[in-house]
Amino acid sequence: MENKKYDLVVLGAGPGGYVAAIRASQLGLKTAIVEKRKTLGGTCLNVGCIPTKALLDSTEKYYKIREKMAVHGIQISEAEVDVKKLADRKNKIVSEVCQGVEFLMKKNKIDVYTGTGKILEKGRVEVSLAENLPEKTVLNCDNIIIATGSVPIDIPILPIDGKTIITSDHAVDLKEVPERLAIIGAGVIGLELGSVYARLGAEVTVIEMLPRLFMPVDKQIAAFMQRSLEAQGFKFHFNQKLISCEKNNNELKLISETKDGTKNEIAADCALVAVGRKPYIENSGIEDIGVKLNERGRIIVNEETYETDAKGVYAIGDVIEGLMLAHKAEEEGIAVAEVIAKKPAHVNYAAIPSVVYTSPEIAWVGVSEEQCKEKGVEVNTGTFLFRANARAKAMEEAEGMVKVIADKKTDRLLGVFIAGPHASELIAEAAVAFEFSASSEDIARSIHAHPTLSEALKEAAMAASKWSIHS
Ligand code: NAI
Repeated sequence: MENKKYDLVVLGAGPGGYVAAIRASQLGLKTAIVEKRKTLGGTCLNVGCIPTKALLDSTEKYYKIREKMAVHGIQISEAEVDVKKLADRKNKIVSEVCQGVEFLMKKNKIDVYTGTGKILEKGRVEVSLAENLPEKTVLNCDNIIIATGSVPIDIPILPIDGKTIITSDHAVDLKEVPERLAIIGAGVIGLELGSVYARLGAEVTVIEMLPRLFMPVDKQIAAFMQRSLEAQGFKFHFNQKLISCEKNNNELKLISETKDGTKNEIAADCALVAVGRKPYIENSGIEDIGVKLNERGRIIVNEETYETDAKGVYAIGDVIEGLMLAHKAEEEGIAVAEVIAKKPAHVNYAAIPSVVYTSPEIAWVGVSEEQCKEKGVEVNTGTFLFRANARAKAMEEAEGMVKVIADKKTDRLLGVFIAGPHASELIAEAAVAFEFSASSEDIARSIHAHPTLSEALKEAAMAASKWSIHS
């Protein structure tokens, strides 16, 4: 058994863990990272954000070539998709970005242990099943960061078999396209992967427990997105609780029920379970060292230092409370490394943008009009439609809108919601505005280049004070 000594050992090499390791190393801490996957990058790079975006980009091109080119005067008689090539391209991108993290580990002199890490006690981490080690190795350290991420939540009546009943892990490992895909959960994963499969020809039906799409999104934006996805072939069944699933000769019969007991039956060739994710903390040893969990199974940490109830043991990312987003985990990774290095650190949770990569994309930062009303905050709102934006029209992508929500008394920005072309990029301006505690007038009076999509945000901000010029 080997024994090594570090200032910091990070468990998990996803965006939270590897970023924490890099920042710690920059700050002079001798750092090791333990990862059980053979490749670095965690869920995001291996089976989450990156493969999904690669598939979304390829299938969107395919969809546009088939449906959106004639209006530009471009005649394409026949377009065909080679699913294997499409999947190979995705795999190549995944492999390149994972190797990128490996390079960063080397550049920052971080020791990588490929194996399962288990905290034996405070300051001692055992790495087992390690390919690059002769036997079990114990890493001694002053500090430990738990950044082990999350796994899909399963539903007992839909046992995952990886073929007809799948999670996002299987869905991104695209091999063939089912004729009829049922998706349980109208959340981010359901709509993004549903878009991939719908564009490749699957008939997509979504069963959702709640009355509408994404509850955190502004109602107006969610209603718009529902119409848009329906036009792309999605079928939605809201207010439905799944009560049973029968499997006959590879055909699934999914029965759901509304609150008043009305039953609904959906036949499908494949069901994607996308009902959320839960922290992955099994066998990490945390139960024995005093790390406590909250009622939702997330690790309890000090809000400013990310330290758990066990001294010298920290936790970040999907294992603690908050949005399960790579960029939230990254910021926490930077902050916790700075805390350990005894530097000032802070994450501004109010300024975290969210993005759903559907077509059009949806992106937002801050709170919705309904959430403001619930809190009794009076607001001014301004909306601007992309069809009044010259650049969006020139791109023939004028579907969607921007909505700005500002405090009625102070004009401080409270929420920005965008459904439209490149919303994922446009939201960065709003996130910076939030970081500077900007008012809607700050955006309205900032000069935006013409003609750009960003003018739609400026106009929505102007509309919040009732002086939009172009609507
Ligand atoms: P989600 O929390 O976004 O959505 C799950 C949906 O399933 C909810 O609408 C919920 O009401 C519904 N649901 C739950 N139980 C149900 C049941 N028994 N029957 C019917 N509906 C049910 O979770 P999702 O989509 O699985 O994503 C997991 C996490 O990964 C999220 O936190 C998400 O933010 C993150 N993610 C983020 C992405 C992005 O930033 N673009 C991409 C993919 C995932």
